[in-house]
Amino acid sequence: MSISEEKIYPRTGDTQTIYLKPVITNSNIKIGDYTMYNDFVNDPINFEINNVLYHYPINHDKLIIGKFCSIACGAKFVFTSANHTLKSLSSYPFPLFWEEYGLEQKNVTQAWDNKGDIIIGNDVWIGYEAVIMSGVHIGNGAIIGARAVVTKDVEPYTIVGGVPAKPIKKRFHDDIIKKLQSICWWNWDKEKIRKKINDLMSGNIDKL
Ligand SMILES: CC(C)(COP(=O)(O)OP(=O)(O)OC[C@H]1O[C@@H](n2cnc3c(N)ncnc32)[C@H](O)[C@@H]1OP(=O)(O)O)[C@@H](O)C(=O)NCCC(=O)NCCS
Repeated sequence: MSISEEKIYPRTGDTQTIYLKPVITNSNIKIGDYTMYNDFVNDPINFEINNVLYHYPINHDKLIIGKFCSIACGAKFVFTSANHTLKSLSSYPFPLFWEEYGLEQKNVTQAWDNKGDIIIGNDVWIGYEAVIMSGVHIGNGAIIGARAVVTKDVEPYTIVGGVPAKPIKKRFHDDIIKKLQSICWWNWDKEKIRKKINDLMSGNIDKL
């Protein structure tokens, strides 16, 4: 695995918590700056192998995660090759075994229904062992509860939970959500974030 020169471990002495961007080697996975992953079961550096599942290059589907997201231990992203096609009369993935059934190798992707990319905004918190299914888009500031299975898009600044995940509540009133979406603090440079850090953590939008 080739790891870039960027900082991997944000916390001194803690190798269970990493910035994901510098450890990603797959060009179909894009992670924004400062997005962190914590894993106390496996080495978090193996995120691509242990957490991004059924993600075969032949399908060209992508995992895109924004900046300043927090991803808890065991969260999983389940991609297209997990979806045995429902267009066939059988759920058995015959196109995968093209040699055995006289099928054409070039049609191997017909074994699966391609539901598309998983796209996650900025400042999203994904709880312990949550599962995000292919094709799902999650808006900025959303929170995914522990062990949720997310099968549908999640609106910005919305908390969802359960199987299948349903909205629990909005994090803020609509006017605050609008302001946060227009401020896009996650695009500020590090210096500005340092300067504004107390205001950002205050819970008072007027301070920002
Ligand atoms: C989703 C979560 C953020 C909600 O926090 P909260 O707003 O304080 O929630 P509350 O405890 O007040 O619960 C609100 C409702 O959501 C439900 N709920 C809470 N967490 C839930 C979950 N993970 N799945 C399904 N429902 C959940 C509660 O049962 C309650 O339902 P009710 O209104 O019908 O009684 C939190 O419960 C959670 O799952 N956090 C993730 C923790 C985690 O995985 N951390 C990993 C380390 S970073």
